[in-house]
Amino acid sequence: MLSTDRSLPNTGHRYIPQITSLEVPPSPNQELMPLTAQVNSNNQLEIGGCELQLLVQQYGSPLYVLDEFTLRTACSQYRDSFATYYGGESLVIYASKAWSCMAVCRIIDSEGLGFDVVSGGELYTTLEAGVSKDKIYFHGNNKSAAELELAVEAGCTIMVDNWLELKTLTQIATDHSDIPVPIMIRLTPGIECHTHEYIRTGHLDSKFGFDPNQLEEVFAYLSQQSSISCIGLHAHIGSQIFERQPHQDLAVVLVDWLQKAQSYGLPVTTLNVGGGLGIRYTESDDPPSISEWVKAVSQAVEKACQETGLPLPRLIAEPGRSLIGSACVTAYTVGSRKEIPNFHTYVAVDGGMSDNPRPITYQSVYRAVIANRMSEPLTEEVTVAGKHCESGDVVIKKATLPKTEPGDILVVLDTGAYNYSMASNYNRIGRPAAVVVYEGEANLIIERETYHNLIERDRLPERLVKHE
Ligand code: LLP
Repeated sequence: MLSTDRSLPNTGHRYIPQITSLEVPPSPNQELMPLTAQVNSNNQLEIGGCELQLLVQQYGSPLYVLDEFTLRTACSQYRDSFATYYGGESLVIYASKAWSCMAVCRIIDSEGLGFDVVSGGELYTTLEAGVSKDKIYFHGNNKSAAELELAVEAGCTIMVDNWLELKTLTQIATDHSDIPVPIMIRLTPGIECHTHEYIRTGHLDSKFGFDPNQLEEVFAYLSQQSSISCIGLHAHIGSQIFERQPHQDLAVVLVDWLQKAQSYGLPVTTLNVGGGLGIRYTESDDPPSISEWVKAVSQAVEKACQETGLPLPRLIAEPGRSLIGSACVTAYTVGSRKEIPNFHTYVAVDGGMSDNPRPITYQSVYRAVIANRMSEPLTEEVTVAGKHCESGDVVIKKATLPKTEPGDILVVLDTGAYNYSMASNYNRIGRPAAVVVYEGEANLIIERETYHNLIERDRLPERLVKHE
């Protein structure tokens, strides 16, 4: 049983709900903290029953800390909500681009979800993690022939994005498969939504998917092929979306195209409505809960089917951020401090844009706490700076914190999605380690990159070797 103190002192944030075995846990995407977060009697932050400061002592800094309970809760909320609200068959697949590694794949596979992969590397990771082929869906707007061959040989479903891919795949399927290769067609639905322009994908001017004016020709082509079998349609409108309406509009567009595809005799019975549900990074973020989102999407598909007279399709949704985003925090160690009189104060940490490129890429805003000073008053507004040689390397522009000292553990919240997966070695800084925590136990799931790791794939041509 997990129990948490809702009124964590002096953090200034809406805090952690009480979780008992009798209650349904809150929707992880609506929380700032992982669901198991609590403050212990030493005023130290614990997640998954593990004290953050001790984790940093043991595994080093910076450190990604993944809360297994929160991740599993998000998986079960998606799964159970579809079972409750959708009258037909459904499958939730994890958009593994949010965080692809073996342990994450194992946890999510054990929850019965499928996987969206977008590269040979993500496909390989899921296969190595033991995910079965019928649960893997391979996306991408420029898959190589080698990636398509890997996908065909693995036996997963391929989400076809464009004409070149369709023609290449038809040939590969003819050469490499005795059975028709299952595919789905990705289309650009022409739906606008409010999110950062870099993470919008549903509008017509997008690099992803077939333009609507190509679709009838595509359906006609597919109806002539025996090496591939089109089982359904897919679209995804963007990421970190709080509105329900665009997802409901998408359902109508997809059901409409499903009907047209069926008129070409295609065996299309699956609709994939993409992902995109946002999470709460700051107090002012107010996303719908997982179950509210699932309910809205399910009802929209059901209504559109009723109106067109179509039987309910098998429904797939592919969330990434809302499954894993709120399940992880990044623990850094506080270092140098620069006070600019009458202006502001920089507090630097031992990571930054190489472990979390989202602030510099999308101007994303995060919240942080000081794990070893959870009961101290929040007396300062500071800028949390990274350690990279770039002025824009700021983790949090305005963080309200207690007075910090070098060595304190600064914990940035909600870093599960698109942090590790977009991490780099800028400035030849090794990527952090990651641990998974659960009921007081911590296990290493990704090793910290060493200096040796940073040079191990460098090669020196003989003429550049320094001979003493
Ligand atoms: N399906 C497709 C086809 C996608 O392209 C994506 C995300 C998803 C599903 C999952 O979307 P989600 O549920 O996570 O919103 N790096 C950016 C996010 C890029 C999203 C790319 N596609 C960020 O850090 O905000």
